[in-house]
Amino acid sequence: MKRPTEEMNIYLIGFMGSGKSTIGRLLAEALAYQWVDLDEHIVTRNQMSVRGIFKKYGERFFRKEEATVLRNTMTLEKAVVSCGGGTPCFENNMNWINQHGISIFIDPTVEVLLNRLVKGQEKRPLLREKNLEELETFIQQKLEERRPVYEQAHIHYQQAQDDAPSVELIIKKMKAYHANSS
Ligand code: S3P
Repeated sequence: MKRPTEEMNIYLIGFMGSGKSTIGRLLAEALAYQWVDLDEHIVTRNQMSVRGIFKKYGERFFRKEEATVLRNTMTLEKAVVSCGGGTPCFENNMNWINQHGISIFIDPTVEVLLNRLVKGQEKRPLLREKNLEELETFIQQKLEERRPVYEQAHIHYQQAQDDAPSVELIIKKMKAYHANSS
């Protein structure tokens, strides 16, 4: 696999609730990059919420849109892109990301994900109408299913507990990654 160069765009991947948007915003600010949220781009393109798109057109349509907005980020310079939780798992997107940018897998514990997702359940079509037990089982199973894809990322940022995300640590990991590749 060809290694990414330092000036490439940065793609944050990981499960729903892993903090891709929060970290994306902070990382972009720290690096003086622009911040892009793929879900937001899909919502703007379709003038409809993610939930609305799933309901009206189905998941397949959403995944096509997602692949399109992802590839559109190629024209951007100095961008931190927060992907959706499923983005790398469809349409050969993980390969595309790794060929066009630097990928970072944000990986908190299931416990942390569960705490966050209970609050954000309604707007996420894959999580709706699940009770607490069903939600926990879903997170465990889906995460295990997706993990092999997420683990293809260049950089792995594992969070042991619900600490505030450390952008400094992520930048350190990126520097170490690039130092090793030169
Ligand atoms: C999805 C994650 C969501 C959104 C959609 C599907 C997924 O993004 O793209 O609801 O398949 O994991 P977030 O990870 O930002 O919640």
